[in-house]
Amino acid sequence: MQNWPPSPYRPGNGIDPPYLGDREEQIEAVRAFLKDARNPRNVLITGLRGVGKTVLLNHLQGEAEGLGWLVVDREFSEPDADPLAFANALLTDVNRALRRLSLSTRLKDRAANLLQAAIDVVGALTVSYGEFKVSVDTKRRRPGPHRRLDDDLKEAFTHIGELCRKSEYRGMVLRYDEFHVIREHPGSPTLSALLSATSAVQQHGLPLMLMLCGLPPVVDNLARSKSYSERMFTTLVLGNLRPPEDRAALVDPATRLGRRFADEVVDAVMIDSGGYPFFIQVYGDALWNGSHGETIQIADVRRL
Ligand SMILES: Nc1ncnc2c1ncn2[C@@H]1O[C@H](COP(=O)(O)OP(=O)(O)O)[C@@H](O)[C@H]1O
Ligand SMILES: [Mg+2]
Repeated sequence: MQNWPPSPYRPGNGIDPPYLGDREEQIEAVRAFLKDARNPRNVLITGLRGVGKTVLLNHLQGEAEGLGWLVVDREFSEPDADPLAFANALLTDVNRALRRLSLSTRLKDRAANLLQAAIDVVGALTVSYGEFKVSVDTKRRRPGPHRRLDDDLKEAFTHIGELCRKSEYRGMVLRYDEFHVIREHPGSPTLSALLSATSAVQQHGLPLMLMLCGLPPVVDNLARSKSYSERMFTTLVLGNLRPPEDRAALVDPATRLGRRFADEVVDAVMIDSGGYPFFIQVYGDALWNGSHGETIQIADVRRL
């Protein structure tokens, strides 16, 4: 009996599949945006759980980095929905970007003053929101009267955008996954602050791009926080893989390792999975591990 290599299939959460099916259109569209930093665009990826949002987002991050963008990534979770936590998360990300920019020799040589000014400003902002965090217990639930997250973000983003332009980076991408947990909170701008700050710096042609990803409620959350959000984003709605890419996602990884699926097996898996990417990985994996022959047969499917 032949010993086959370990299963190439990757059922899981955000794990790169061995064959990325049916995403060429989306990748092409975003690649075009990434090549035109003077006209910054924002991307929103949505779809049900398991359709491959995170996988696509990761892929787009790779494209962005390959084209010279500075990408700051984050996966949000419920606690980040608190307005203060949200403000802290964003300022932390601005700081991360700044730290990477400060390694740029081009910036050190040509724009040391600008770099230092940005570090000072962003440092001061971070401290002010940081202090507020400590004072939550004392019922001071709002930052000082002069702090507005939208203004602060706009200032921080402007610095980053200008520094990117003077560095070897094309611009900055904020790559945010699980973003549906973020909602606007009455009385303390959260989402709307991010959108208005982004929109303001983009109107000045500064190279900042949002790549947001989340379950379908993300679309409503954004629309409710700013009426112009619809016009700010190109929305990529992901669904199940369409033929023939659904079949390729199952068949191609096996072929590359010297095995094949009988046609009726492929038909059966396509019917059962409906082209749902997560199920294609689950079936591929189970059939690979649960059979021995070079050709995976319908009897192997029945044994599952
Ligand atoms: N385009 C694709 N082709 C084949 N498999 C995919 C594709 N996109 C995702 N998958 C697989 O589907 C599963 C779910 O992907 P994931 O990105 O975590 O979904 P989501 O973020 O939408 O919940 C993973 O096992 C992944 O390997
Ligand atoms: Mg995901």
